[in-house]
Amino acid sequence: MATQDSEWIFVDTVDALDEEDFMRFDHGGETYILYKVKGEMFATDGLCTHEAQHLEDGVLIGHIIECPLHQGRFDIRSGKCAGGPVCEHLNTYRVKIEGDKLFIEL
Ligand code: FES
Repeated sequence: MATQDSEWIFVDTVDALDEEDFMRFDHGGETYILYKVKGEMFATDGLCTHEAQHLEDGVLIGHIIECPLHQGRFDIRSGKCAGGPVCEHLNTYRVKIEGDKLFIEL
């Protein structure tokens, strides 16, 4: 969740993400995932809340990211748990595009 201290961090150019695709982004010692689904951009924490598996190795099914380790599922729009052994939500972050540049609010 954004705070008063949050800022927009440059991630990459927009063409780095294809439709129905996602990518890992590391910043400040933390890991995030940015997604593009149906033309919309989303961002969540990059580590599963169950056993800290990297979600970059997971599978994206519509708006659901599935963890590769125990198949825990999260809705990338809200970060909420959507199945499997996970019970703690992911944090979500705002994403914006300026020109051909992609930013995440951290
Ligand atoms: S580490 Fe992700 S579901 Fe277990």
